[in-house]
Amino acid sequence: MNKVLVSLLLTLGITGFAHAAGDAAAGETKVAVCGACHGVDGNSAAPNFPKLAGQGERYLLKQLQDIKSGARPVVEMTGLLDNLSEQDLADISAYFASKKMSVGAADPQLVERGAALYRGGKLEEGMPACTGCHSPNGSGLDAAGFPQLGGQHAAYVAKQLTDFREGARTNDGDSMIMRSIAAKLSNKDIAAISSFIQGLH
Ligand code: HEC
Ligand code: HEC
Repeated sequence: MNKVLVSLLLTLGITGFAHAAGDAAAGETKVAVCGACHGVDGNSAAPNFPKLAGQGERYLLKQLQDIKSGARPVVEMTGLLDNLSEQDLADISAYFASKKMSVGAADPQLVERGAALYRGGKLEEGMPACTGCHSPNGSGLDAAGFPQLGGQHAAYVAKQLTDFREGARTNDGDSMIMRSIAAKLSNKDIAAISSFIQGLH
């Protein structure tokens, strides 16, 4: 690899080579307790429980580390990760990442506004489009830690955007990427964009 490429990868934060690789087959044996809320294959039925199926492996591992450490408080998961090792978390992440996220439907009343915000941002307010990081079809870019959004439950997405805006979720790093974006979104914007995302694929 040439120097430019190496420094680009480091800038993007692609340092995953050093981590213990997750084993999806081993992960499958460790997720029984998760299925009650997130669905056995990671496609949860209840809209306030996020779908994990098809989510990026790197992103999942970071969230599990953040939830375990308390950097991202999830009361429903209190204590659940305490006895899991770093290898367990990596295996679980590999398992859910190997599944496919199901797609929902967008509310026809909201889709136009949601699509415009997702694809165009609010340039006059300096808010970038979501496509740049989460990709046009919502698949994200796991190598850079950008999660998949397409197909995710609208209620869950809306809660995350509200939490980022109100400072209830603060694990988006020192650059505060998502907190600064959510600060520009009204409640109506959040409802529209979340509905659009639920149907995006
Ligand atoms: C009692 C229900 C419940 C159980 C059991 C549960 N979770 Fe969760 N989990 C939640 C809720 C609710 C959230 C979202 C909280 C929020 O709104 O931020 C969440 C969030 C997550 C996230 C973050 C998803 C994202 O898109 O950022 C991951 C990863 C996760 N859970 C993994 C697990 C794993 C692995 C297990 C099993 C070891 C598990 N959960 C068990 C309720 C549960
Ligand atoms: C500059 C890159 C960037 C842009 C632009 C961006 N995001 Fe994000 N987004 C991120 C990163 C990075 C995370 C993960 C933060 C973390 O590690 O917890 C994230 C997380 C999220 C999450 C939480 C996902 C989950 O499963 O919990 C949602 C929802 C989200 N973004 C929505 C949006 C929307 C909607 C837009 C456009 C209005 C947008 N993002 C624009 C980088 C970006």
